[in-house]
Amino acid sequence: MPNTSFAAGTEQWIGELGRLRGVVRQHVVAAQLAEMVDNSGPMRVLDVGCGQGTQSLLLARSGHHVTGLDVSAELLGQFADALAGEPAEVQSRVRLLQGPGEAATELVDGPFDLVMCHGVLMYLDDINPMLAALSAVAGERARLSLLIRNGLAMAMRDGLRGDYPAALRAFDTRQYTNRLGLHAQAHTPDVLDRALRPFGWQRRRWYGVRVFTDHSDEPSPAAAELTDLLAAELQAGARDPYRQVAALLHLCYARGAR
Ligand SMILES: C[S@@+](CC[C@H](N)C(=O)[O-])C[C@H]1O[C@@H](n2cnc3c(N)ncnc32)[C@H](O)[C@@H]1O
Repeated sequence: MPNTSFAAGTEQWIGELGRLRGVVRQHVVAAQLAEMVDNSGPMRVLDVGCGQGTQSLLLARSGHHVTGLDVSAELLGQFADALAGEPAEVQSRVRLLQGPGEAATELVDGPFDLVMCHGVLMYLDDINPMLAALSAVAGERARLSLLIRNGLAMAMRDGLRGDYPAALRAFDTRQYTNRLGLHAQAHTPDVLDRALRPFGWQRRRWYGVRVFTDHSDEPSPAAAELTDLLAAELQAGARDPYRQVAALLHLCYARGAR
């Protein structure tokens, strides 16, 4: 089994999903993904660390064929419960598998057109076996979508929350304890670019996720009340300097001459 520290935070993660920051994260990532998804036909998508399957489900509803791979039986169960409420044709486009992403070559049948790994790399002791596995099951002209903790601006979260001693400690480290109480590791785009180059990946786009709302602990209001907030988050996540201080970074890579 890979050394992942996520399991102890599973219950808290489920609780996060309905909070404002969880809603912002999923909405913004979905909109950014839509910019890299090829809608000319169904894509084969692999979602490693799919968890409850928010993004996978949206892609399956749009006609894409999705394989969700995750180590957590509990979160795969949440995904399966959500899937059970979908029309039969959506259900038929989703396959769920339990296992570590690092073993993807043994567990799934590639090649995939789009490989996603969102909110996983920060929990791994070593990201390289995961990146190698994601690359091995991706096709020659595939896309890769990674959601990482932003290592460019580590003091932002504590600073915005008014915890200035913690902000001072955060400036010169990429290690942190997240809101699930888990020790985790942030990364910068350069680190990922270097690690992925040998596998033929080039970064084509990058976005920030959660610029204005990362410090919020509030439950989410109804979606209708969030229209302007979500639009502002999308704008900020797509441009400098705002995206550089976002809580998370969404890095989008491509292979082949595109
Ligand atoms: C923070 S959740 C993110 C879920 C989903 N990708 C999202 O962004 O909404 C992290 C997920 O990664 C899974 N995970 C952690 N390490 C993993 C590994 N080595 N292989 C596969 N899944 C892993 C956890 O079980 C959990 O479901």
